[in-house]
Amino acid sequence: MTDLTTRYLGLELRSPLVASAGPHTGDPAMWERIEQAGAGAIVLPSLFEEQIEHESFAASFAYEHSADMHGEASSYLPDLPMGEVGPARHLGLVEQARERLSIPVIASLNGTSPGGWVKYAKHLADAGAHAIELNLYDVVVDPQVTSADVERRYVELVEEVRAEIQVPLAVKLSPWFTALGNFAVRLQDAGADGLVLFNRLYQPDIDLDHLSVVPRLALSSSSESRLPLHWIANLRGALRCSLAATTGAHDGADVLKLLLVGADVVMTTSALLRHGPEHLIVMERFMREWMHEREYDSVDELRGSVSRENVPDPQVYERANYYHVLHSWAPTTRR
Ligand SMILES: Cc1cc2nc3c(=O)[nH]c(=O)nc-3n(C[C@H](O)[C@H](O)[C@H](O)COP(=O)(O)O)c2cc1C
Repeated sequence: MTDLTTRYLGLELRSPLVASAGPHTGDPAMWERIEQAGAGAIVLPSLFEEQIEHESFAASFAYEHSADMHGEASSYLPDLPMGEVGPARHLGLVEQARERLSIPVIASLNGTSPGGWVKYAKHLADAGAHAIELNLYDVVVDPQVTSADVERRYVELVEEVRAEIQVPLAVKLSPWFTALGNFAVRLQDAGADGLVLFNRLYQPDIDLDHLSVVPRLALSSSSESRLPLHWIANLRGALRCSLAATTGAHDGADVLKLLLVGADVVMTTSALLRHGPEHLIVMERFMREWMHEREYDSVDELRGSVSRENVPDPQVYERANYYHVLHSWAPTTRR
């Protein structure tokens, strides 16, 4: 029997297939299906910096107004429906997932600036999360802000979150850093136990009827997995921390390629939204058959065997390959 067990962030997983943050992992009705379909771990949807700050503002606003109305009662909190407050509900979700699932539960926190909200990393860990994933989703539009400023701020944020928690910490990044290798090492040195590569940034669209800007979420396609594939191949030998691939893993072949370049785990959201959690079974079956045919006994045997440090010609992962890629194009059909 092929051994799929995997170590990620110091956690033992039964499989390298992980259900990444998305609507299905936030839906308790899906949890058992995800687990039974073979996920090695589940990442819950993010708790957002804005959500925390908005809720604490709303709570203090309600408190002050209640205190005004009942001056003598200002020493106790008003009867706020705390169960309905966003962060409280989110912490409840983590607790529930821990109770119901036997696979590791990773809680996600989204934010980009150091601040008081970071204490929620500890609350998520106290609620039972096996690990925290810090999602650095950001679009820096201010031309006064330099890339050095942004990287410094993220490193400080990772240090702050690290100081709050004892459980492992993963950092989910966008691919748009000029010198990603250097930044990745600095995140590791700041306390990241793993990097999740890459967050998929969404671009708005224009509604031609109303001349307005509209959000449009499209699910990913398989070809998008080449970006995490390229960078994991490059970073595998430079980092000692765990590496998770996210974006574009739609079938067993995508997963195998990402493991071959050095991913410890492969995460998937779009494919599970499209086909349902049971698609994990299809992905795993393909992997097992492929590995069996080639006589691999475990994923550890194949992991990283095609990373940059393990291929005969590392230039295939570097700039020199640009020339060959452009000249490899050939028309497949004649018009
Ligand atoms: C509807 C939707 C909601 C998502 N919510 C989150 C989230 O809360 N936190 C997060 O880190 N990523 C979130 N993601 C991103 C996914 O976790 C994943 O990184 C991304 O979709 C790329 O992977 P895929 O190609 O397998 O979809 C979301 C994605 C979708 C489609």
